[in-house]
Amino acid sequence: MNMSDLKHKTLEEIEKIASLQDWEELRVAVLGKKGSLTLLMKELGTKSPEERRLMGAELNVVKEAVTEALDLRKHQLEEADLDARLARETLDVSLPPRPFFKGKIHPLSSVMDQAIHIFGQMGFKVAEGPDIEEDFYNFTALNFPPEHPARQEHDTFYLPPGADQQPLVLRTHTSPVQIRTMLQEKPPIRIIAPGRTYRSDYDATHTPMFHQIEGLVVDTHTHMGHLKGCLEEFCRLFFEDPALKLRFRPGYFPFTEPSAEVDIWWKDSSWLEILGCGMVHPNVLRNCDIDPDVYQGFAFGMGIERIAMLKYGIEDLRLFFDSDIRWLNYYGFDPEARE
Ligand code: PHE
Repeated sequence: MNMSDLKHKTLEEIEKIASLQDWEELRVAVLGKKGSLTLLMKELGTKSPEERRLMGAELNVVKEAVTEALDLRKHQLEEADLDARLARETLDVSLPPRPFFKGKIHPLSSVMDQAIHIFGQMGFKVAEGPDIEEDFYNFTALNFPPEHPARQEHDTFYLPPGADQQPLVLRTHTSPVQIRTMLQEKPPIRIIAPGRTYRSDYDATHTPMFHQIEGLVVDTHTHMGHLKGCLEEFCRLFFEDPALKLRFRPGYFPFTEPSAEVDIWWKDSSWLEILGCGMVHPNVLRNCDIDPDVYQGFAFGMGIERIAMLKYGIEDLRLFFDSDIRWLNYYGFDPEARE
């Protein structure tokens, strides 16, 4: 076929293309790697210089005409496509918009974030541990004697032992994260451990699953004054009351000595207990290979539900877990209004 025939035939075919898919097929058939024009171009290399010059010039003219025709046809096809779609689709601009429900942040998530934020600014980093915990981390390493009441079946959820036959529990507090951290890191340590905790209990002030945030500081000169200052600062920032009064009452935990329970003076009317704390017991430091003659530490553990209920006036703990969308809409936080 001579050059002019090829050109006419191709241009005719382009005219007849009926869809964008056919268009692409034809483009490949002509200009693709093995397209008719491409092959002719390749053949040029085998010709004498004189023929190459003549044929080359002619071929370029053909290629230009074909490319131009292809572009034009594509444009026409796209226009036709759009016209067809516009004719087919109808749009009722009088329809009211669909209702759009924006979710809310659960108050517990928000309070957890607030607490992490405040402690974060004091230089604490977040540490984590598993919800299914070995008895060793939850009790033994924390200096609980074997007969301690917290170990009883009706207080603690026990699980069948794991592969290594270690007794397993659902952790009853976030304190096992203290042990995990001290076994992994050398002092100075300054961590908080927020997370879920479990106890076999259910009434207006107890649910079998609840949340705590644990704090642990270990360093060479850590003393009870640091503990007091840290918790005072936290409570005043969290409850947004720079004059909030705190009271440290003597308490008992196997893993701290001395231990204290902390109350806050609430609404000018009563002392309310919000957390437990103390200086890390020397036995606990020793269990983690930390020399109690060199290092001291303080620790605290706080119920997230408890401080959330106080701050936002939520009366019944069980409401947190009922998943009532009306409650969540009322007590939840706008995700876009987050700091
Ligand atoms: N783990 C204790 C509890 O759950 C709280 C606590 C933590 C007390 C750290 C002292 C130090 O009640």
